[in-house]
Amino acid sequence: MNQLQQQLQQLYGDSSKHANYQNVPAFVQEALGYQETIDESWRGDRARYAWLTPALELSAHQTVADIGANTGFFVLSLAHRHPDCSFVAYESHPNHVDFIRLVVDAFELGNVAVEAQPVDLAAIDQLPHCDVLLHLNVLHHAGHDFDRGLVAGPQALAPYAQAYLSKLAGKGSRLVFQMGYNWGGDKAQPIVDPHDQAGMVRWLTDVLGRSGWQVQALAFATRDERGDIVYRNLPPALIAAAGQPQPDSAALSQAIAGYHLGQFKGEFYRRPLLICRSTAPRAAQTPESKGVSA
Ligand SMILES: C[S@@+](CC[C@H](N)C(=O)[O-])C[C@H]1O[C@@H](n2cnc3c(N)ncnc32)[C@H](O)[C@@H]1O
Repeated sequence: MNQLQQQLQQLYGDSSKHANYQNVPAFVQEALGYQETIDESWRGDRARYAWLTPALELSAHQTVADIGANTGFFVLSLAHRHPDCSFVAYESHPNHVDFIRLVVDAFELGNVAVEAQPVDLAAIDQLPHCDVLLHLNVLHHAGHDFDRGLVAGPQALAPYAQAYLSKLAGKGSRLVFQMGYNWGGDKAQPIVDPHDQAGMVRWLTDVLGRSGWQVQALAFATRDERGDIVYRNLPPALIAAAGQPQPDSAALSQAIAGYHLGQFKGEFYRRPLLICRSTAPRAAQTPESKGVSA
């Protein structure tokens, strides 16, 4: 085992709350022959990545921020694939930060900046504007991992999320968004019943709509004919209908039943994955904002 692999393995396998979570990016696996075992029937990153890369259609010189980057699967994979775009990873846990930095240095990814900081409500003001914001599975940890004291319980997450996402709408043109529906990851504290996917879609379209984000695509996991996990979009008309005051819940529930979400262990693959476009004006750049440049 070479020294780099040993260092990466040590940083990856700590005992913190979000450790042992993501896949190792494919280019790192290929170069080092190093991978971590992820039970992809419970959760995984490759299906999400396969869905979002063509959907994003990144063009040259675009800027991307990954908020809650963990060990960098998304930010590193995208940065390696798009050397002409610029990326910034925001991550609060020092070992995850060091993991990303080690890969950035070893693979000379000059298009990635790493910010070892949590993006809480106050910190959003300091973010530079980006073409794309990734905010995946972070928001339901508000009140636990960050902004303790601002979220009193699971029912307080909707108004908090609206405040947080409204600020983000001034900081990005597009948002790739996913969240969990147990507050802080605690099954005893549901935000939306984890088995009520239609309820999640309505919760999301409501909160995102109020926050200046228009949902462009919303996907759930399913299996393709070969049995591989893939994300498939809900028909846009159902997403639009979910945002109406009297949504047709039967049609939405029927469409969601077609994903056979009961086949997956746990609740990870029951979480919708979305791409949204900002309808809000661009926020003024504060003097402290750190720029992202190629
Ligand atoms: C559940 S993991 C999700 C990782 C990744 N986004 C994904 O979906 O695969 C949440 C990550 O966000 C980090 N985190 C939590 N709150 C954060 C915040 N306010 N700003 C930046 N990182 C945060 C955690 O340390 C952890 O690595």
